[in-house]
Amino acid sequence: MASPTPSVYARYHTAFAEALARALNAPLAEVEPQVKPADPAHGDLSFATFPLAKALRKAPPAIAAELAQAVRVQGLEVAATGPYVNARFSAEPFTGEVLAQARTEGGAYGGSTSGAGRTVVIDYSSPNIAKPIAFHHIRSTVIGHALANLHRAHGWHVEGINYLGDWGKQFGLVAVGFEEYGDPARKHQVSHLVDVYVKANARAEKEPAFDERARDFFRRMELGDAQALAVWKEFRETSLKDFKAIYARLGIRFEHYEGESFYQGKMEPVIERIAKKPGVKTSEGALIVDMPYAENEPPVLLKKADGSTLYATRDFAAAIDRHERFQFDRSLYVVATDQALHFRQVFRVLKEMGEPWADRLVHVNFGRVGGMSTRRGTLKLLSDVLDDARDKALEKVKENLAAGKLESHEPEALAEQIGTAAVVFGDLKNRRTSDYDFDLDAFLQFEGHTGPYLQYQHARACSVLRKGGGAPASVAPALLSLPEEQALVRLLARFPVATQEALDDFEPSVVSRHLLDVAAAFSRWYTLGNQDKEKRVLVEGNDALRSARLALVDATRITLASGLTLLGIATPDTM
Ligand code: ARG
Repeated sequence: MASPTPSVYARYHTAFAEALARALNAPLAEVEPQVKPADPAHGDLSFATFPLAKALRKAPPAIAAELAQAVRVQGLEVAATGPYVNARFSAEPFTGEVLAQARTEGGAYGGSTSGAGRTVVIDYSSPNIAKPIAFHHIRSTVIGHALANLHRAHGWHVEGINYLGDWGKQFGLVAVGFEEYGDPARKHQVSHLVDVYVKANARAEKEPAFDERARDFFRRMELGDAQALAVWKEFRETSLKDFKAIYARLGIRFEHYEGESFYQGKMEPVIERIAKKPGVKTSEGALIVDMPYAENEPPVLLKKADGSTLYATRDFAAAIDRHERFQFDRSLYVVATDQALHFRQVFRVLKEMGEPWADRLVHVNFGRVGGMSTRRGTLKLLSDVLDDARDKALEKVKENLAAGKLESHEPEALAEQIGTAAVVFGDLKNRRTSDYDFDLDAFLQFEGHTGPYLQYQHARACSVLRKGGGAPASVAPALLSLPEEQALVRLLARFPVATQEALDDFEPSVVSRHLLDVAAAFSRWYTLGNQDKEKRVLVEGNDALRSARLALVDATRITLASGLTLLGIATPDTM
């Protein structure tokens, strides 16, 4: 999928920086990061000269004026404005090159080879088995999926891992809970297991003896008791089947399902290594790492007094194992901000252990989702959320079909795509560290900052292309001279920059916001034709102009499709 050619935008950016570096006799690596997007009134790229004033003993405007004289780049119009050297893309070659690149690269548009030869491990989704798959897992799932796609698009080798929470006392709770509250006929329904878990959990809180039974069950699991493990395995498979159905709906495939249970029996060597470090000691029978970084920081627990291991123990083993197997350049943990302390401690201990790769570990944290509690105060299951979204989308689809506003012939399939888009984009449009409120009705609007709106604009581009007889093979880019057309071309050109920035900051919302800008610019241009028929895309009596406009529609379609796909959102071509 990764595209081997640098983007048109990147090429001009570098060419401008090179010319500046030559004129200044400075290294390119120093100059290039200083080339920034310009104030649109003055151009496209801009280089500020204030930082040079001292060394050159000249006023910034004078430096800018001299540089503007010296810098000559084909396809760039360079001029000084006050202390800035600005460059504007020459409309004709720039437009032609952007359209050609989008057309040649198609679905790969926006990607690059910037990550070639590098490996990233992404731990994402990672729900807990036999516990409710709460809606907050959708954040990890969709952010992780988008990051996996972004890395792949930029040439990285991706190892996506679903680190299931499939080991721990909760299995004891479900198992002993099942003996009390279970209905054998519904043993293979996750919703039933969740009910059992909730009841057992509540009872364990009030009744120490019951809690002890659950602990004992887990202890037997850890000791390898065949009977206990058989029960666990059945619960695990039931949950996994359910999760996989959700991942299929979201278009997600993991390279590995390796949950906490995967590290069962593999923790001793790791514990021994950590135990050699100063600050590791036994306290009330438990093995702890006590090297507080901040005041009041709790110690890291490696082993409980009864010998059982913990969440942190397994994360140490997993980090080391992943490094041994994948030799990663980065290892990401897409997990809620709530677990910041856990990851800080795990990463720090690995660093103290002298693991040189410890600083390649990143906790890609995210905020909370509000507004998700049902009336009964319990968390909703993710599959219920997707079902709700699909059902509501279907109502809309049917309304639009009845009103003749829609071309689709498969309302059910389309509703599933729209509903999922609403939920996924409702999440990914937010900066990941922000909290947001889940508002399905707002997310499902066909207008505004929503997934369905982007899908709709994409489908609209497809529909115009169908009416216009498809994308033309060659065009005269000079004909795309309306300011609205040039604004759109620039946004399409910056799309590859946005995807790289999203990757660098682990922030899919950069792509989301860029797509909203593209859709808005497309709509602004496209609707000009309502007032002025000369401005219609499918303008009458001017084949060359019509072709050029269709080519711009096609490049818009390609950009929207590529961006939505990166975010894990379907791109129906009729809506
Ligand atoms: N199962 C955990 C939870 O739902 C998330 C696991 C995240 N990954 C990790 N390596 N700890 O809270």
